[in-house]
Amino acid sequence: MSPGMDKLSLLRLAEMKRGGEKIAMVTAYDAPSARLADAAGVDLILVGDSAAMVVLGHDSTLPVTLDEMLLLTSAVSRSTRRALVVGDLPFGSYQESDEKAVASAVRMVKEAGADIVKLEGSDRRLSRVRAIVDAGIPVMGHIGLTPQSATLLGGYKPQGRTAVKARHLLDAAKALEAANCCALVIEAVPPPVATRVTQSVAIPVIGIGAGRECDGQVLVWHDLLGISEDPVPRFVKRYADLATEIRRAVAAYVDDVRSGAYPEDKHTYSMADDERERFDEMVSGK
Ligand code: KIV
Repeated sequence: MSPGMDKLSLLRLAEMKRGGEKIAMVTAYDAPSARLADAAGVDLILVGDSAAMVVLGHDSTLPVTLDEMLLLTSAVSRSTRRALVVGDLPFGSYQESDEKAVASAVRMVKEAGADIVKLEGSDRRLSRVRAIVDAGIPVMGHIGLTPQSATLLGGYKPQGRTAVKARHLLDAAKALEAANCCALVIEAVPPPVATRVTQSVAIPVIGIGAGRECDGQVLVWHDLLGISEDPVPRFVKRYADLATEIRRAVAAYVDDVRSGAYPEDKHTYSMADDERERFDEMVSGK
């Protein structure tokens, strides 16, 4: 590991919160993306269950399995040096019981190399958080819009927009902190509510669609880079238009293959003249 590439720690994250240093988190789901994100200096790489939608082609996050998440997370962990890797616990891997939650979290760390696991919700999830932390595994909470409960929430809608609901979110954040979460994601919540949450807990609060006052921000890889052409939520800022670039490059390749412009001689391997002549003799008349 080269200097400046030392693995981040939870202590360092806490220090960043205290010192007002913003925390940059991004999702990634494979080795090359993780390598690029890590080299670009992100602090946290989340292998989100958004993989169900952006990688596996499902129309919600619900179908992705723990085994699929383990496969993706291990590719990311193997390719990440500095950032902390957060493995998302998918729907069905922790809801049933504390025992199941601990077993899933242990697999995420032991088999997939995650540094932290993430789960959605508060209230009924508090005992899950405590049980996983008791097993020695750091937990990141996720409140606000929690896609695994989108049906219950009435769809993919912003949350905490009434005083009562905002108050509930603040209580949820405090309860998750008391249950020993090491950090929180807060998704699709009006900035005044997210700001109040951020100021009210000592753990880092990472926002997505929650305004600039959070301790950090997270975006989905495909949204940030413009890889998917699906409509994106209003909080997404695209930093590149890779879909256009990828389409252009692949169409140029297709044209070259069809016209014979690719491959050129420089893309092939040489053979000594005498070997070639021997080969021609061997197969002549066959
Ligand atoms: O699964 C995911 O990518 C997430 C982020 C949107 C926070 O949970």
